[in-house]
Amino acid sequence: MPVRRVVCPGSFDPVTNGHLDIVARAALIHDEVIVAVLRNQSKSTLFTVDERTELLREVISKHENVRVQKFDGLIVDFCRANDISAIVKGLRAVSDFDYEMQMAQMNYNQAGVETLFMTTNPLYAFLSSSLVKEFAKYGGDVSGLVPGPVLDALTARISAA
Ligand code: PNS
Repeated sequence: MPVRRVVCPGSFDPVTNGHLDIVARAALIHDEVIVAVLRNQSKSTLFTVDERTELLREVISKHENVRVQKFDGLIVDFCRANDISAIVKGLRAVSDFDYEMQMAQMNYNQAGVETLFMTTNPLYAFLSSSLVKEFAKYGGDVSGLVPGPVLDALTARISAA
């Protein structure tokens, strides 16, 4: 039987409980999940790629079939290089759909890489890394939205700014 290895790609600046929910569910139905952290950002990030990766490693450590890797360039090239058959993405709302559909079709057109969409847990349908950062920056309580190590890292980064 071939290994069913999939990738959950993203910026993860920082990882939220919504991301973790998708990764955990993907890990239940595939042999291996690679969480791929995008390095070559055009947008500026609150956390460096090493910090984002380390936080992810810490919070996914209980899943034996999940590992975290950084990547540059196209996700389809990362898939080819790592023998990955599909990209797994969470879909929060209709607003996510257009762009996700476009990326999925481009990736299939260019490289034959499939994209599997999982519906986000309704508990996290509103959740994004950007909103978490904005609320945290202005003193909002995001403790129910991110794992403990991320909350600590956010608090430290914001108080240092
Ligand atoms: O968490 P994000 O920023 O919404 O994740 C977007 C990501 C990293 C999944 C997407 O931008 C991506 O796959 N980037 C890698 C570059 C690439 O392959 N671009 C073409 C997509 S069709």
